[in-house]
Amino acid sequence: MDKQQTFPKDFYWGASTASHQVEGDTLNQWSVWELAHAKHLANTTEERLGYLPMWDEIKKQAQNPDNYVSGKGVDHYNRYVEDFDIAKKLNLNALRFGIEWSRLEPEEGQWDEAGVEHYRDYIKELKKRGIEPFLNIWHWTIPIWFDDMGGFTKGKNLKYFYRFVEKIAKEYGRDLTYVITLNEPNVYTSFSYMTGEWPPQEKNNLPHAVAVYLNLIRAHKRSYKILKKVNPNIQIGIAAQLANIQAKRPHNIVDESVTKIMRYLWNWWFLRRIRKQQDFVGFNYYFTDYYRKTKRDNPKVPLSDMGWYMEPEGLYPLLLRAYAHYKRPIFVTENGVADMHDQYRQWWLQETMIAIERALSEGIDVRGYFHWSLLDNFEWKYGWWPKFGLVAVDRHQGMKRTVRPSALWWAEQLKKQK
Ligand code: BGC
Repeated sequence: MDKQQTFPKDFYWGASTASHQVEGDTLNQWSVWELAHAKHLANTTEERLGYLPMWDEIKKQAQNPDNYVSGKGVDHYNRYVEDFDIAKKLNLNALRFGIEWSRLEPEEGQWDEAGVEHYRDYIKELKKRGIEPFLNIWHWTIPIWFDDMGGFTKGKNLKYFYRFVEKIAKEYGRDLTYVITLNEPNVYTSFSYMTGEWPPQEKNNLPHAVAVYLNLIRAHKRSYKILKKVNPNIQIGIAAQLANIQAKRPHNIVDESVTKIMRYLWNWWFLRRIRKQQDFVGFNYYFTDYYRKTKRDNPKVPLSDMGWYMEPEGLYPLLLRAYAHYKRPIFVTENGVADMHDQYRQWWLQETMIAIERALSEGIDVRGYFHWSLLDNFEWKYGWWPKFGLVAVDRHQGMKRTVRPSALWWAEQLKKQK
């Protein structure tokens, strides 16, 4: 890439994290589920992942129950200042992070002041370094007491979520410019209530899936109002999961129709419902999916460590479409690759910057990009073996942080944009 500055000066270059995936010692519905299922996940991993090109390398870790327990995380709860210094060295000027509801309200109606103060200091330390905080309210984890009453399956439970949002608004609202309310409602609803892979592991429970999806729409809309009341300047959106869905055979009417339906249902349905309550369109991009009839039929290479087909340039058509639909500023709130040998990340980042640059040159109002992730983190039901971090963390060597070569390369590119 040449030296000239090609992105707007105030463009946000950031990284994303999520509380449960990095903090350590979280006590929520996920941490309880992990302890109950770690053994089973370890024993059945070969039948699920044995096909991966990386299988021989990950086998030992993937067959160890410890892999499936978030436990001490990467101790980000205690090392956030050190981690912000690293982010600063990488020339990042924004960080997306999650608030852990179960820390703020471990028991229904009782606020934990230490937890409240923690995130206050967190925001302060980010700002001190010129790193813009993008606070994410909900990234799939819920307190155990909220889970016990049925979580988001019941509309009457939403009052507890609103109270939590009111607390966030009251405590931090005046110090924030950007808030993301929800992370990937479509993924959460599908995995928790349709495929049954995630807690509460309800399989094909359509009534619950529909209820949760609709309740999350209500949750976003009300949160928007609550936050704006405290600080009308806050810019609010969600982090949607958008896939670049394409027809395998471009002139095949079945492939084309399935593609259109999938795009509408997976990508746009939720965003359309909340279009009047979003100041920006935030979305996470990982996948390009080609459909042959109703089945995904993706190219066989290149694949990430998780076996996901990689097409970083697929970000471009999504940026165009998201802008055409909603005419709002866009933030790419997550994007990245599981790559333990750091062999693809630099290429991925380079293609991604080109995609964004192209979109900007077409007049698309892209305002920021957040790489997933700042640190290696707990990858939900896959556990610890997938490596998404710009910064590697060795959990067996005192949580040692090591910046990956691709991240150093990226930091150099970002320097040229300053
Ligand atoms: C989620 C992250 C996750 C990432 C990689 C996103 O869908 O928001 O929590 O780690 O994908 O799988």
